[in-house]
Amino acid sequence: MDTSNRALITEIDGIRSSTPPGLLSNEEKDRLIERAFVGLYRWYVSRSQATRNWNPNTTIDWKNLRTDHSEKLNTILEGFFAVEQYVPDYVLTLLKVVRKSYGRSHFHIRWGSEEEKHSDLWENALLFSQFRTPEWIENYKESLRSNQWELPWDSPLHMIMYTVIQERATQVNYLNAGLIAQGKSGDPDFQNDIDPVLAHASQLIAIDEAAHYNFFMEGARLYLYYYPAQALEAMQDVIQFFAMPAGSLIPDYDKFAEVVAAASVYGPREHLRDVVDVALKNLNIEGRKKLRKGIEKYRQVPDMGGNLRDTAIFDLLDYDGVEKKVEKLFGRIEKYEQQVGFDKIFPTVFVPSGY
Ligand SMILES: [Fe+2]
Ligand SMILES: [Fe+2]
Repeated sequence: MDTSNRALITEIDGIRSSTPPGLLSNEEKDRLIERAFVGLYRWYVSRSQATRNWNPNTTIDWKNLRTDHSEKLNTILEGFFAVEQYVPDYVLTLLKVVRKSYGRSHFHIRWGSEEEKHSDLWENALLFSQFRTPEWIENYKESLRSNQWELPWDSPLHMIMYTVIQERATQVNYLNAGLIAQGKSGDPDFQNDIDPVLAHASQLIAIDEAAHYNFFMEGARLYLYYYPAQALEAMQDVIQFFAMPAGSLIPDYDKFAEVVAAASVYGPREHLRDVVDVALKNLNIEGRKKLRKGIEKYRQVPDMGGNLRDTAIFDLLDYDGVEKKVEKLFGRIEKYEQQVGFDKIFPTVFVPSGY
C-alpha cells in the first residue's frame, strides 16, 4: 500500500491531466490544503494548551468516585476503556499514512497525546469504581492488546472522513454517559447512578472529542472545497461501511454495544441522527439519502475530462456554504498568524478553488 500523500494524489489523478482554465492545479490545491492544515494545527495546539490542559489522574477527584454503579453503567465504562486501549494503533497506523503532510502528521501526534489521556482516564474510572479487581483489569488489558487495530481505509482522504464520523460518535457516547452520571438519562435502569465525579470525567473527555471532531471537520471541508467530487465519494464510502474502531477486537464488544444501544447512549438511531446527519449538516452536504443516490448516479457518468462528473456532484453540496466556512477558517489562521508574527514572514492566504 502506498502510505504517503501520493495515495491521495493518485486517487485524484483522474482529473489531473485535464484541469480546465480558471481552476487550480492539483499541486496548488494540495499546497493550499497543506498550508491550512499547518495553520489549523498551530491554532489548535495553542487552544488545547490554554483550555484543555487537564490531567487524567489529578484533575478528577477519583477518591470520591462511587463504587456502587449499576452493572450496566460498569459495562459501558469497560467498553469505553477497551476502545481507548488501542491508542498506540490509532496513532501508529494513521501516522504512516499522513506522515508526508506536516500539518496532518503533527496534529496526529498531538491528537494521540490527548487520546492517551482518555485511555488513562477510563482506566482510572475502572480502578476506582472497584467493580473489577486491579488484576482483572490488568488481564483484560493484556487480552485487548494482544490484538492490533488496523486502518479501515489506507488513504488520507478516506481517513479524514472516517475520523470526522468516529470523533463525533465518540463525543456522543461520552455526552450521553455524562447524562447518566448527572441523573438525566431518563432510563430507570440508571436512576441510582448519579455520580458527580463521573459526570466531571465524562464532560472533560467529551470536550476533547468535540475539539477533535472540529479539527477533522475543518480538514474534511478543505478536501470538500478543493476536491468536491472525490471528497463526497470518500464520505459516502465511509458512511456505508462505518464501524466503531476496535469493535471486532474487543472480546465482549457485542454485550457493550447492546447495552449502549438500549441505554440510548449510542446505537443505530443515535449513529444516524446524532452522528452522521449532524456531520453532513456541518459539512453542508445535502443529506444521507441524497448523497448515496447522487454518488450512485455520479459513478455511472463517464468522466469526460473530469468536467461532467464535477458538475453532477454540486447538487449534493451547498458549495457556497462550504466556501464561506473555508474562508472563515483561513481568516482564523490569519488572525493567529498575526498574533505570532507569521504573517510578516510566511502568511497563509486563502485562494478560491475557481469552481
Ligand atoms: Fe478519545
Ligand atoms: Fe478523539
